[in-house]
Amino acid sequence: MIVKKTKNNIRKVISEWKKRGLSVGFVPTMGFFHQGHLSLMKESLKRTDKTVVSIFVNPTQFGPNEDFNTYPRDIERDLALAESTGVHAVFVPDVQEMYPSPSKTWVEVEGLTKHLCGRSRPGHFRGVATVVTKLFNIIQPDVAVFGEKDFQQLQVIRQMVRDLDFPIKIVGAPIFREKDGLAMSSRNTYLSDDERKSSLCLFNALKRARELISKNEVKDAAELVSALEDFIGKYPFTRIDYIFVGDPETLEPATHIKRPLLVALAVYVGKTRLIDNMVIH
Ligand code: PAJ
Repeated sequence: MIVKKTKNNIRKVISEWKKRGLSVGFVPTMGFFHQGHLSLMKESLKRTDKTVVSIFVNPTQFGPNEDFNTYPRDIERDLALAESTGVHAVFVPDVQEMYPSPSKTWVEVEGLTKHLCGRSRPGHFRGVATVVTKLFNIIQPDVAVFGEKDFQQLQVIRQMVRDLDFPIKIVGAPIFREKDGLAMSSRNTYLSDDERKSSLCLFNALKRARELISKNEVKDAAELVSALEDFIGKYPFTRIDYIFVGDPETLEPATHIKRPLLVALAVYVGKTRLIDNMVIH
């Protein structure tokens, strides 16, 4: 497996592949891999001749009081996992390489970023869209794979690719879960044993939402949200950041229960902010 730290060096590797007519798949990540990340790599490996993974904890998508400094990192373990999955190359730039001087140019996707994480993490999606644009320009992949775990991020990237004419096919991959249903996340390592038990409130609330809808037990979106608030409130150490019920395409909140319906949650369990979502058909 090839490992490169600079834009120039990874570009040279990829341009050699392109000269040989090989297709390139790309999985951008912030590292500290779990099975969810590896499932995206496998999806890319299935679809293209060569797969590149980037590992970069991107400072511009973290707010001033967020966990940029403490975000878990373990490059050696990540490289071993990527290699055993069959990844061909990993791009591991440092902050100086990606941002040699503070950015004066930003990519901002409007509308889709008004609600959900866009509301509670101002500037987050501007940081994501900008770094993904830079990575797309460096790697120039044919296909890029993103997880549905970050549903809003996936929709933001799809919109950006359409609006800015990137010749890249965006593939969404399903949420990979622990056996008990907790969506895998690098941030799960922050949880204490008791918090880990409470973290099940997210997936259980989504299943409860699906059940309430299928049995016609809620008359509108407001009633659904309040039922989920009560449900999550019963778990210790939890504090709801948001419960979103709305359109999976426009990411606008719904008043009525219509399908497909996106239910998306952000809940603090202790100090750890977890997200999860389900599209109900
Ligand atoms: P990161 O949180 O490392 O996630 C990298 C990719 O893995 C994202 O596409 C995310 O949706 C996906 N992913 C995370 N957990 C998953 C799970 N349980 N099942 C399936 N896919 C999962 O998302 C980012 O990094 C960054 O914002 C990035 C796009 C790299 C830009 O900095």
